[in-house]
Amino acid sequence: MSVIGILTAGGDCPGLNAVIRGVTVRATETHDVEVLGILNGWQGLIEGDTVSLDRDDVRGILTRGGTMLGTSRMDPYVHGTGLESCKNTLRKTGIDTLVVIGGDGTLRSALQLSEEGLNVIGVPKTIDNDINGTDMTFGFDTAVSVATEAIDRLASTAEAHNRVMLLEVMGRTKGWIATYSGIAGGADAILIPEVPYDLDEVASIVKKRYRAGRRFSIVVVAEGVAPPKGVKLDVRKDAFGFERLGGVAYSLAPTIEDLTGFETRVTVLGHVQRGGTPTAFDRVLATRLGVAAADLAVAGESGVMVALRGSEIVPVSLEEACSTVRGVTEDIYDVASTFFG
Ligand code: F6P
Repeated sequence: MSVIGILTAGGDCPGLNAVIRGVTVRATETHDVEVLGILNGWQGLIEGDTVSLDRDDVRGILTRGGTMLGTSRMDPYVHGTGLESCKNTLRKTGIDTLVVIGGDGTLRSALQLSEEGLNVIGVPKTIDNDINGTDMTFGFDTAVSVATEAIDRLASTAEAHNRVMLLEVMGRTKGWIATYSGIAGGADAILIPEVPYDLDEVASIVKKRYRAGRRFSIVVVAEGVAPPKGVKLDVRKDAFGFERLGGVAYSLAPTIEDLTGFETRVTVLGHVQRGGTPTAFDRVLATRLGVAAADLAVAGESGVMVALRGSEIVPVSLEEACSTVRGVTEDIYDVASTFFG
């Protein structure tokens, strides 16, 4: 083992810097192995943009959101020719193991690179919490905390004005942030992509609350739920051709308002869930994952991702991680729906 390369790809997520710090300090100080940071995700690997990292370079970043390495949605298999397009940089820098911090798309590319023969260790990252093989991803706890605070704040203004408040949260095709923040904030209904919704049911919850003297309601909406039948959203794509979600709650609000007779307002929380300092839980998880990734890289492991299972950090095959996108389980949604209304 001579050089570990580390990159962050895909959407950013609170805790990325904590992982970079964990890998760097563990590799350079404990194992005496060189670390190179690769700038702007896969783009830096393809274009040869790297910086040397040691303990001093990563001081002060533990608490910072974003990623000191930058990120992009570029992908070596979508925008390049796989391992071939990274070979120049790998040869020039002497990188022999790559630590890849990313979500499901990034980990899929990491798996393919490892199948082509590159040593790769994955670190699961996403506020969406949808990566298979790990109990939780770092960044999720921070996003849930931000969304929960939003629910708390919306509740008091909703109550003052007798309104129904729809809070739309991120999560792409899965409803983890919606379900967890909805439980934590005591939401009256939670709409997620995994469970078909019925706006008549939502309306009857709101009306039942009204009859019981609670003249406001909070409905959490995951950004990935389908719009009502017959409504087509104007979904734009980002620079790399990925769909930009956000705003579906606006298509639900008029029907809820018409069915209930209550003014219905929408808040789309957006990127505020992803920015800023990670929670203590995410800092600890990200640090543990970074340390474990460095240890596995130095041990010559490849094709695995570091994962949280129970209270342990363990290696899980990238194949298992990429075999499916993990959705909200029935038992958790059942807990949430117990308190609807
Ligand atoms: O995957 C994380 C995530 O924040 C999703 O919840 C969201 O849909 C998406 O990324 C937004 O990505 P971007 O910042 O590229 O628009």
